[in-house]
Amino acid sequence: MTRTVTITDNETGNKADFPVREAKEGSHGINIKTLHKELGMYTYDPGFLGTCSCASDITFIDGGKGILRYRGIPIEQLAEHSTFTEVCYLLLHGELPDSNQLDDFNHNITDHTLLHEGMRRFINGFNHDAHPMAMMVGSVGALSAFYPSASNVHDHGVQDKAAYRLLAKMPTIAAWSYKHSKGLPFIYPQNSLSYVENFLQMMFAFPTEDYTPDPLHVKALDLMLILHADHEQNASTSTVRLAGSSEANPYAAISAGISSLWGPSHGGANEKVIRMLTDITESDKTVQDYVELAKDKNSGVRLMGFGHRVYKNFDPRASLIRDMCHKLLKEMGGSSPLLDTAMELERIALEDDYFIERKLYPNVDFYSGIILRRLGIPLNMFTVIFAMARTVGWVSHWREMLRDDEFRIGRPRQVYEGSGMRDYVDISKR
Ligand code: ACO
Repeated sequence: MTRTVTITDNETGNKADFPVREAKEGSHGINIKTLHKELGMYTYDPGFLGTCSCASDITFIDGGKGILRYRGIPIEQLAEHSTFTEVCYLLLHGELPDSNQLDDFNHNITDHTLLHEGMRRFINGFNHDAHPMAMMVGSVGALSAFYPSASNVHDHGVQDKAAYRLLAKMPTIAAWSYKHSKGLPFIYPQNSLSYVENFLQMMFAFPTEDYTPDPLHVKALDLMLILHADHEQNASTSTVRLAGSSEANPYAAISAGISSLWGPSHGGANEKVIRMLTDITESDKTVQDYVELAKDKNSGVRLMGFGHRVYKNFDPRASLIRDMCHKLLKEMGGSSPLLDTAMELERIALEDDYFIERKLYPNVDFYSGIILRRLGIPLNMFTVIFAMARTVGWVSHWREMLRDDEFRIGRPRQVYEGSGMRDYVDISKR
């Protein structure tokens, strides 16, 4: 028998039963699709604190227990044994590939890394001081002008092609945005290199010199991409789903996701973490002063890289990346005043009642900025790298949504609290 939940309107006494959509793991969802028909009301949930927008097979998170799994496989195992492109295959297709499937997949991505020369001119048209995220939002949206056939969004072949193109072209767009902002020559993709090696060479190579990426840098960046590849219905993924639900071209939908990711409460956080750590390190403020400032609601200051909407005990990605952060700094040698500040901040905040009571722990972005910094990636490229990693998550959710039997345009409702009906007043009488 289908489990149901009864909702009663205490004023009218009207009640109705609603079926429960059973989750395989985690919380079930009450299917309130007929709520308005039955009780004449909608649910009210700003910020979607208690609302499931869809059912999904892709990623499972248990925020209380600090669990993150892609297609059932714990993030810790993927971080230790897998590579980013293998994780991409897993997220997109639901299973780990065998070696032939992985070779084909890598080949398909490599096949699409070049950008149309028109895109090169397009990127060159941006102001030299444009933020690379602004260039990325614009450039990915512009891909829809180069691939108009992608508008046939229900065609599975079109979906797969869009997935390959997006995964392949994001590193090229990212690196070229950086080169453009520096006035440096664009470096073309090299098909013989791995995904991460190729990105690093497009970022850091010069036409005049040989460049070989450091294997430790490649490993660290590959790990970062794995950890950021998907995170179920976060703001940017929900944006991609909502934009894509109108059957918009995938490049337009992903571009909407990049815009959402840009904000400091989401993907922009790691950039803000480094700015905060630099500010503390270079100012005469102590770490304790800064913690006090973050606790003062009137200051408008938050500890960047602390807290998470879903993880309320620890962020499993933070533990993995913290280890890599230390390994990288140890193997590369040299001191890091920023890391010293970060460790002191972590220690003080984790012992402070304000943070303990609110379950505010360092999230993945607290450490990812330190790693990127150490790899020589400039601050304004941090969110761009996050977007590169999350593209596979966005595309996987976009594909899943379009293949869902319950697919329809997303259209939330509202509780109207504005003026009642009133008459127009002529401008001369106002
Ligand atoms: N520093 C100080 N106080 C904080 C912080 C913080 N970083 N985060 C939350 N709080 C406080 C709030 O002021 C609030 O206090 P109150 O109960 O006394 O009013 C309480 O903790 C709950 O905060 P909310 O904003 O309701 O928590 P929410 O779940 O909505 O927000 C968010 C989560 C946006 C991540 C928040 O913790 C934050 O702004 N963190 C800093 C930005 C950041 O690191 N973002 C990266 C997220 S991870 C990612 O995108 C990969």
